[in-house]
Amino acid sequence: MSVRIIDGKAISGQVNDETAEMTADLAKRHGVRPGIAVILVGSDPASQVYVGSKGKKARELGFRSEMIVLPEATAQEALLAEIARLNADPGIHGILVQSPTPRQIDERAVILAIDPAKDVDCFHPFNVGKLLIGDTDGFLPCTPWGVMVLLERSGIRPAGKHAVILGRSNIVGKPLLALLMQKTAGADATVTVCHSRTPDIAMFTRQADIVVAAIGKARFLTAEMIKPGAVVIDVGINRVADPSTKSGSRLVGDVAYDEVAAKAGAITPVPGGVGPMTIAMLMRNTLRACQKSIGVVPA
Ligand code: GUN
Repeated sequence: MSVRIIDGKAISGQVNDETAEMTADLAKRHGVRPGIAVILVGSDPASQVYVGSKGKKARELGFRSEMIVLPEATAQEALLAEIARLNADPGIHGILVQSPTPRQIDERAVILAIDPAKDVDCFHPFNVGKLLIGDTDGFLPCTPWGVMVLLERSGIRPAGKHAVILGRSNIVGKPLLALLMQKTAGADATVTVCHSRTPDIAMFTRQADIVVAAIGKARFLTAEMIKPGAVVIDVGINRVADPSTKSGSRLVGDVAYDEVAAKAGAITPVPGGVGPMTIAMLMRNTLRACQKSIGVVPA
């Protein structure tokens, strides 16, 4: 059986094309365009790349994009003041503070400061609560939603399947658990979450129809840990040394790609799998926030 490569680049391209079309329609009918503000505190190189990509994609789709880069030593109060300014700006519909932030910043307080109506990351407890109870009126979290869209548009139905998630982060593991177990079409899975204190992770992953690796460990999931034909979704982005490249390093996922691809039924590559979906869903949330702000929200 040959493995199917789930092409996140192609699927995110479809999602972005639809977003661009709806954005143009919104401008034509209502004279508004979505606005997103991305705040980066400090100069973490990976975060610089991520926020750069978010701003670029926003502009490509016809959004207003405000990029705010604050110094590493920025005080909590100064960041909160910036968020308050953006909360009050009617031309900004989505606000995102790139994580991780420097030590002096209390990320919980930052998340709470963002107007839930502009919380396009879906990190605010108000939106996380809505997600958990299956209230579709809020936002969906970008990376987990991206995973769901990858499955849906690849014709993979989680209903009745056993999905095993590796990792219990607030950004991926926990919200993906909520999405996969919802009583809705496209979900309805039985979900197990494994984490750093799970004694025998392979015992669970070998039973899984769908494995989602979001554990932050390079090539953690090996072929002997999956059952033949399993669907493998790799959320990991790890930089590892590679003397054969010009930079001396390269990006790999949480999955030992070659050996797992030889046994799996379907797999996402890194890069080009989940990564581009996160940005596509962020843009979709920003469009939605804009639509909601003027009272035109599609179902
Ligand atoms: N850092 C890593 N992923 C994310 C994300 O989805 N949103 C934000 N704000 N920070 C991140």
